[in-house]
Amino acid sequence: MIALGCDHGGYPLMKEVIAYLDEQKIEYQNFGTFSEEACDYPVFAKQVAHAVADGKCEKGILICGTGIGISIAANKVRGIRAALCGDCFSAKATREHNDANILAMGARVIGPGLAIEIVKTFLETPYSNAPRHANRVAQIED
Ligand code: RB5
Repeated sequence: MIALGCDHGGYPLMKEVIAYLDEQKIEYQNFGTFSEEACDYPVFAKQVAHAVADGKCEKGILICGTGIGISIAANKVRGIRAALCGDCFSAKATREHNDANILAMGARVIGPGLAIEIVKTFLETPYSNAPRHANRVAQIED
């Protein structure tokens, strides 16, 4: 189960992400927002971050205009490793090295084609669990 959240700036891209998840039959829980009416991204970052940190959802996807505010907010929740990605190399590396559990993207930064490739890469790449990475992730958790 993937937790989804966005603000008004992220809403247009979130619709594209949802279409992809539907097509792939990937289950998700959508915490909103559900329109382009102005709202506050920390509200949605908090709900998605808690759903992931509490184990109710395995991973999360957060989208705002830049991806910055919503990732900063999500990373305030213990256990969350939210990675802002604008390319597939970063999406792959952050899963392998950081065991990132939330993908953040900026709807005003990248187009839908790239965003979907990033989502696919993020969801399909396993954590490497190599001792050097596990040691560093443990230090983050400390
Ligand atoms: C909203 O205008 C915008 O500030 C927000 O989507 C995000 O980019 C913040 O980091």
